[in-house]
Amino acid sequence: QIVYLNGSYMPLSEARVPVLDRGFIFGDGIYEVVPVYEGHPFRLAHHLKRLKRSLAKIRITNPLDDAGWTQLIDELVRRHPQWPNQVVYMHITRGVAKRDHAFPENATPTVFAMTNPFTPPTLESIGEGLSVISVPDERWLHCDIKSISLLGNILARQTAVEAGAIEAVLFRDGYLTEGASSNIWVVKDGKLLAPPHDNLILEGIRYELMEELARRSGIPFEARRISQDEVRNADELLLTAATKEVKPITRLDGQPVGKGVPGPIFHKLFAAYQEAKA
Ligand code: PDD
Repeated sequence: QIVYLNGSYMPLSEARVPVLDRGFIFGDGIYEVVPVYEGHPFRLAHHLKRLKRSLAKIRITNPLDDAGWTQLIDELVRRHPQWPNQVVYMHITRGVAKRDHAFPENATPTVFAMTNPFTPPTLESIGEGLSVISVPDERWLHCDIKSISLLGNILARQTAVEAGAIEAVLFRDGYLTEGASSNIWVVKDGKLLAPPHDNLILEGIRYELMEELARRSGIPFEARRISQDEVRNADELLLTAATKEVKPITRLDGQPVGKGVPGPIFHKLFAAYQEAKA
């Protein structure tokens, strides 16, 4: 496996970052995850836009322009022809500096990227759908930044795993925010609902995409605050993320969601997603 680190391509086993890197010391950095289907990065322009937004919000100068990022991704993908579908991870930290919370005067950002094989979900692999649990959202108030500091997300996800569930659905003050590493969607009376994309959630690249797919499929969409009761009484619950695409949630806290099987709106949006990829 070949990875990219600070301008060079090298085997993963040779990639080294100094221990004083602020990513290691403080979690001071941001990341992106882009799915690549048969050599083609999916919604790359959207991912690069979000990457720039995340960098700007934590005041790191973008180390590459769009052409540079595109070339980097293409090169990583090209070097792994054995993997038909891949998922590219990009990671930028504020760089290496003497430990001090305040920004260093002149650190150079650390840029790391890798690609891994990726098996897109199929209706067969999705089967009866996912089981999730509700977990209080104990994260900070800038969840819109795709920060590498993920302790809140990690602890929530681990709580889910230990309960035999696949994902933690997070609630802040009684309202749905998102999953530990996904966006969550509610279907009620044929309508698709999502929490507003404010500072309390990461605006997934699939957030805007789902709006588009809903429109194309004739499904009304509304972004608004969604209470925990509404989530419990949903007809369908869906989850989206780069490597999950769109999946049905059929059990919440051990109880069936709606009829407890993947529903008609899921099937429509799954089909529309496959079309969008083609
Ligand atoms: N996670 N919300 C959170 C907290 C996430 O971590 C993710 C994705 C999403 C969905 O965003 P997108 O549609 O752009 O994948 C929402 C990635 C995949 C990860 O951390 O690996």
